[in-house]
Amino acid sequence: MLQRIKRIVSQIQCKLDFTPEIGVVLGSGLDSIYESVDVAKTIPYSELEGMPISTAPGHVGQFIFGYISSRPVVLMRGRIHSYEGYSTAETTIPIRVMALLGIKYLLLSNAAGGVNPNFSVGDLMLITDHINFIPNPLIGPNIEEFGPRFPAMGSAYDKKMMVLAEEEAAAMGITLRKGVYVSLTGPSFETPSEYNFVRIIGGSAVGMSTTPEVIVASHMGLKVMAVSLISNVAFSPVEVSHEEVLRQSKISSAKMSNLFRRVISRL
Ligand code: HPA
Repeated sequence: MLQRIKRIVSQIQCKLDFTPEIGVVLGSGLDSIYESVDVAKTIPYSELEGMPISTAPGHVGQFIFGYISSRPVVLMRGRIHSYEGYSTAETTIPIRVMALLGIKYLLLSNAAGGVNPNFSVGDLMLITDHINFIPNPLIGPNIEEFGPRFPAMGSAYDKKMMVLAEEEAAAMGITLRKGVYVSLTGPSFETPSEYNFVRIIGGSAVGMSTTPEVIVASHMGLKVMAVSLISNVAFSPVEVSHEEVLRQSKISSAKMSNLFRRVISRL
């Protein structure tokens, strides 16, 4: 795995001379931050031997290198999910790659189902903590070069970045919810009893991604911030669908990107 990751890094370094400071993962339909990037280079995952390829609708599958508010960034336009058939050690390869390229901060977005009864469709939720039910990406031999065998997860979400997000949301005049993100593998959405379970165990929102990425980022010492777009709410008479998730994400994509752009400018 270490060799595979290093090979991807060197293929990228052969294509461009660029040291990103900040990595951004764009969740389902949350593409509009791409429009605020002063793009230096786009590399499709398919051009990189050893990269897992995104197959989920709404995930383009490109690294975008460039600048947001004059800060060097790399965007993952399209993430990889374990429901696509990859192991979580594989779905998190791009996070390892971005860390080896030099990022110190990682900002993640996703679409999630709200289980907190106070949440509404279109809300943004700052993830303050998670409960991971997707197989842990660190299972297998530990790569000492990346981090310790038993990394602590007590501060996986960076407190200072959370404060920045709250300040910037207030300056934008938007409500930023806070809560615990629970990840399940998908790809089926939850049954009513599963949504209820997520609520009972302390979750505010549920989704199919993000937590493996946060675990490897934290393992490598990156500072992490993550925000969910509440694309649907549990216990609604309207049945959830991926099309509706994408539609709601598109509607709120600009709000998410503005928040990210503002936080990035203050890092
Ligand atoms: N459940 C799981 N994943 C999701 C949901 C949901 O309700 N909405 C968006 N991603």
